[in-house]
Amino acid sequence: MSKHTFALVFLLTISSISHPIAQALTHGAISVDKLAIPNPTPEVTPLRFYMQVVDEGNKETSYRIANASITNQSPTGFGFLNMMDNLLTESPDPNSNLIGRAQGMIGSADLNMIGVYNNFNVYFTSGEYNGSTLNIVGRDPVFSAYREMSVVGGTKSFRLATGIVTLRDLSVDNATMDGVIEFNVTVIHPTTVLL
Ligand SMILES: *[C@@H]1O[C@H](CO)[C@@H](O)[C@H](O)[C@H]1NC(C)=O
Ligand SMILES: *[C@@H]1O[C@H](CO)[C@@H](O)[C@H](O)[C@H]1NC(C)=O
Ligand SMILES: *[C@@H]1O[C@H](CO)[C@@H](O)[C@H](O)[C@H]1NC(C)=O
Ligand SMILES: *[C@@H]1O[C@H](CO)[C@@H](O)[C@H](O)[C@H]1NC(C)=O
Repeated sequence: MSKHTFALVFLLTISSISHPIAQALTHGAISVDKLAIPNPTPEVTPLRFYMQVVDEGNKETSYRIANASITNQSPTGFGFLNMMDNLLTESPDPNSNLIGRAQGMIGSADLNMIGVYNNFNVYFTSGEYNGSTLNIVGRDPVFSAYREMSVVGGTKSFRLATGIVTLRDLSVDNATMDGVIEFNVTVIHPTTVLL
């Protein structure tokens, strides 16, 4: 599906939702009882950031939380699960501006080849999207040059988001799997969602 077809399908989907959608929903201090979508025309927001993967040492930001009974014998490390809070920076340089954090789980979910399951939130901590999140899910065959995952939702600036994530390793240490991953994200979301 081309980007335009995708945007159109999204537009039609949103348009078919009658508003206001009244549902009780509590998010932090904000209590939401009316959700109106006054302008359903989707916005397309391109983003690029760099994930700093540090699995070892005193700056570790990703920790093993579980192994399966077969993880240690499995050629793919099947069943390992890590919880991460990896830094997301503006450029590949780990000392460049911090734009947010990738918080969530990754683990081996493929018995036969290296295929990592991802389920994490991008939590923006600076700039225009400070405080917003993007919810990302997908399969990552880490040894492929380019991989693709999905934006399945978001909050604040990215309410009702959907979108596409592509990623590639810029550098990787095969011993520790530490390195820098480039993310290009195309977020499609309504221009305004009033709560
Ligand atoms: C998982 O297995 C690895 C490798 O044997 C070990 O270093 C790690 O401590 C284990 N972690 C958990 C949470 O079981
Ligand atoms: C991001 O928002 C938080 C909460 O409102 C605020 O404390 C913080 O200073 C903001 N950070 C930046 C870099 O703007
Ligand atoms: C991100 O976009 C840039 C510019 O189009 C491109 O050079 C790079 O390969 C892309 N990276 C990924 C991971 O899609
Ligand atoms: C790291 O491992 C991958 C996959 O086995 C291999 O293609 C690559 O050449 C290795 N890189 C280095 C620097 O050894």
